[in-house]
Parts: sequence; C-alpha cells; structure tokens
Amino acid sequence: MRFYFILIFFTLLQISISGIIPNPEHPAKLTERHSKNNYKINSEEKTKEFWITKGKKFVEDQRKLKENKNIAKNVIFFIGDGLSLSTIAASRVYQYGEENSLSFEHFPYIGLAKTYAIDKIVPDSASTSTSYLCGVKANYGTLGVNGNIKRKDCEATLQEQYYTTSIGKWALDKKKSIGLVTTTRVTHASPGGLYAHIAERNWENNEEIEKNCKNYENYKKIKDIAVQLIHGDVGSEMTVVLGGGRREFRDKKMNDEIGLENARTDGRDLIAEWKSIGDENNENRTFVFDRQGLSNVDVEKTDRLLGLFNSGHMKYKMEAKDYEPSLEEMTETAIKLLQNKNDENGYFLFVEGGLIDVAHHSTYAQIAFNETIEFSNAIDKARTMTSESDTLIVVSSDHSHTMSIAGYPDRYNDIFGTAAESDRDDLPFLTINYANGKGADIYINSENNARHDPTVIIDSKNPKALFPATALRDSETHGGEDVAVFASGPWAHLFTGVYEQNVLPHLMAYASCIGDGLKHCANN
Ligand SMILES: *[C@@H]1O[C@H](CO)[C@@H](O)[C@H](O)[C@H]1NC(C)=O
Ligand SMILES: *[C@@H]1O[C@H](CO)[C@@H](O)[C@H](O)[C@H]1NC(C)=O
Ligand SMILES: [Zn+2]
Repeated sequence: MRFYFILIFFTLLQISISGIIPNPEHPAKLTERHSKNNYKINSEEKTKEFWITKGKKFVEDQRKLKENKNIAKNVIFFIGDGLSLSTIAASRVYQYGEENSLSFEHFPYIGLAKTYAIDKIVPDSASTSTSYLCGVKANYGTLGVNGNIKRKDCEATLQEQYYTTSIGKWALDKKKSIGLVTTTRVTHASPGGLYAHIAERNWENNEEIEKNCKNYENYKKIKDIAVQLIHGDVGSEMTVVLGGGRREFRDKKMNDEIGLENARTDGRDLIAEWKSIGDENNENRTFVFDRQGLSNVDVEKTDRLLGLFNSGHMKYKMEAKDYEPSLEEMTETAIKLLQNKNDENGYFLFVEGGLIDVAHHSTYAQIAFNETIEFSNAIDKARTMTSESDTLIVVSSDHSHTMSIAGYPDRYNDIFGTAAESDRDDLPFLTINYANGKGADIYINSENNARHDPTVIIDSKNPKALFPATALRDSETHGGEDVAVFASGPWAHLFTGVYEQNVLPHLMAYASCIGDGLKHCANN
C-alpha cells in the first residue's frame, strides 16, 4: 500500500517536471555557444605597465582633440530605440569582448540625456521623439505637439497652435534635403516626430482614429500619420523614406506586393498618391518594396525614393529573409541619394535602429544585441561615407529598458550564460535579467514558488528564448535612467554634460546653422 503511494507520488512529480520544462539542455552547452572560446585573458593585463601605458595613451589622445568649429553641412542623427547603457555594454561583450567597442563608442564627445516625459518618469518613444526631434518635451504617447495636448484627445489634436516644428522643418527652411530610415514602420513613433503632429502615436491610419474619435463630430478632419507623411509640410518634402509599414498606406481591399494585409478603410492608396504628385511635378519618384528593388535604385536618376519593405515592422535581422535590406544597406542608399541630390546645401538624415526596443519588450536579449550590432554597423558605414570636417553624426537613444547585467560572471564568460549560483537556493542564475516581462513565470515552479534552474529552462538555440524577469507582464517596459549621446564632427564638443533630451535638436541646429538667431552663422 505504502509502496504504491510512493510510486504514484514519483510519477506525479515526473509529470509535473516534464510539463514545466520545455527543452532540457545541459548547462555547459549554453556557456559554450556564445563564448569567444579563443579569448583568454591577456597575461600582460596582470602587470602594472599594461594599464599605466593604456591610461597615459588615453590622456594623450584626449589632449590632442581639437574643437571642430566648422559648420555642419550635413547632420546624421542615429537613434537606437531602447538602446540603454546596459544594452550597449552587453552587446559589446557579446560581439567583440569586454575591452573592445562598438563603432560609435569611438566618438570623441559623450553626454547624458534625461528622458522623462512631461507626465511620466519613464517615457515612451513618441514623447521622446518630440523631445529629440522638435526640441520640446511632450506628454506620454503624443507626437509633435506640446504638453497642452493629452494623449488621445481627439479635439485638441486639431489645435495647430500647440504643434511643434521639427529639425526636419528647420533644415528644409535652409534649403537642405531631408530623409528618414528605420527598421520599424515609417509611421511609428520615433520617425513620426520628424513630420507628424498628433495626440496619439497609434493613429497611424484612418481606422485607428475612427476607433477612438468617431463620436467627435470633426474626427474626419484629423489626419492620420501616414497621410501626414505623404501630404504634410515636412513629410511631403522628404527625399528618401525607407523602412516598414506598407499596410498603413493602403485600403484593406487593395493588394499588397507580396499579399500581406493592409490597414486603411478609406479607399486610399497613399503610395499611388505619392507617385502621382511626382508625375505632376515632373519628378522621378521610385517606390521599392524589397532588397533587390533597393539595390537597383539609380541615385543619379531618382529624385525621391520611398522604400517600404514589410507591411508592419521590418523583420529582425536574425529572422530576415534576403528580401529585406539591412539597416546598413538602407543607410548607405539614403546617404548616396542625399549627397547626390543636394551637394550644395547638405542634408539632415534621421536613422533609427528600431527593433532593439521591440526585442527587449519581448525579453529576447539575443535579438536585442544582434540588432544593436546591426545599428553599430550602419553608423560605421555612415562615418566612412562622410567627412568629420562637414558632417555631424550624433548617436543616442530615446529611453532605456529594464535589462541588467548582474552577478559576478567571470571574464569572457558567455553573456547569455550563468553568472554564479545563488547562496540561498544553490541554483545558478543568469547574467542577463529583466525587471519585468513575459519571461517571469516560466522560471518559477508553480508548485512551490521556488526558482527553476534557468539553464534547464532556457533554450539557447532559439533567438526568441525568453530571459528571466521579476514582475510578469506581456510586454517588458522601458526604463527611466539617462541615455548616452555620442557625437562626432562639427561642434561635437557641445554635446558633453548631463542635459534634458530636448536640447539635442537645438545643439544639432546650432552646429549646422539652421533654425533662428544663430550669430555665429552670420557670415554664412
Ligand atoms: C527614373 O528612375 C528610375 C529608377 O532609378 C530609372 O530607372 C529611370 O531611368 C529614371 N528616369 C529618368 C527619366 O531619369
Ligand atoms: C545577426 O544575426 C544574423 C543571423 O543569425 C547574422 O547573420 C548576423 O551576422 C548577425 N549580425 C551581426 C552584426 O552579428
Ligand atoms: Zn518601446
């Protein structure tokens, strides 16, 4: 009798364990996979001389820095969405090893930007975009409007006296060309700050406005973000727009190039409208929807270029098929076109690595780091195509995330591996963890609320493996600490200090002599 009880008990235990553990894998494998096996601690590091020589060389390099007070003919502004300092550090370890650097970490001047929104300690990408592109802080969820407009306010969104103007407009007023590149939908929050004015970042197409505002009599006057991109005063003047988001431009009943769903319900095809404006103005406008099309673009013969490579966000690089271009390829084409179009007055280009944030929201740390390296590669490309003497490049982020690098992992340990064992439950814990997110419950044994061994839970072959989190949430949240700002080129030395995020476009405007009242530009 007693024997049977014991047997039943063990059978139940086995069932419950195998039900919880998705894919048991030996811990050692996890550590091997991403570690730089050939990395050994350089024995010179044990000497004093090694560190002292390095330290003195840095002092000497800093001493030689010369302030560049040229006028920045061109400005390229890179935003890594959700590129927190811990993401930069972990991606550096992941790709190059602890002592090495991502491309933009070599830039000579660094500052820190405070990212809070008017009404939130931790901001979203719309309020921060308004801040770093229009120079004015805004309420959470709002885009290109000041703090008098609250999120989703259908009536206030038509009040033009509350609209902000972006650095894109300031550049156009000085006869510069402008463009945008992103891996998200081109109507998403970060690029939206360049050309849109709207009380709700999700009003990317007419149906989204209808859902929130149909009880308001003037709701048909509200222009969705896609319409503002094609017909607005800044959007309609863009030389190049590359990214995802085709669905926001066409009615659901219309066909997509590769059969994906569209999102509009007003019968419009904004891509066709964009093309016909070109015909009316005798401009050669090119629309492309895949990587091949992008590489066929003849920049000499193209006046304006619209490339929409997915119906929604573009795919993560780790999952993309060959028909979507990389951020680096899009950035390269955009710069070539802008250089060709307006060599005399120069250009302002906004480039977003938008999927770092999307991956973090899902606690896909491996994808977040891969997207960060892609972002770094795009910046490297931009620097090699331009000159520090006339092109200011600024690299920053809109906000942080909740990911931390913790424990005391050994040097050159796999960044995705275990840091150590806990002194409380004797189980290992990982180096990478989130404060909240969907990777919370799978690491807890629901029977007794104890932790599982994370190395048994995580499937290291899957880029979409969820990293552990504390509070269970469907979408991991942003973080509220400062973000770094890296600058290179004319007036880059102005970007040092700890400042409000909204000073960024004012600094870029000063460096390139756009906007009003800049005395140092008088002779120009
Ligand atoms: C317009 O641009 C396309 C694509 O770049 C090119 O093939 C075509 O020759 C151009 N037409 C003119 C008139 O320049
Ligand atoms: C990102 O991942 C993809 C697919 O695994 C790989 O081909 C690519 O080289 C990675 N990117 C970088 C910059 O390491
Ligand atoms: Zn986000």
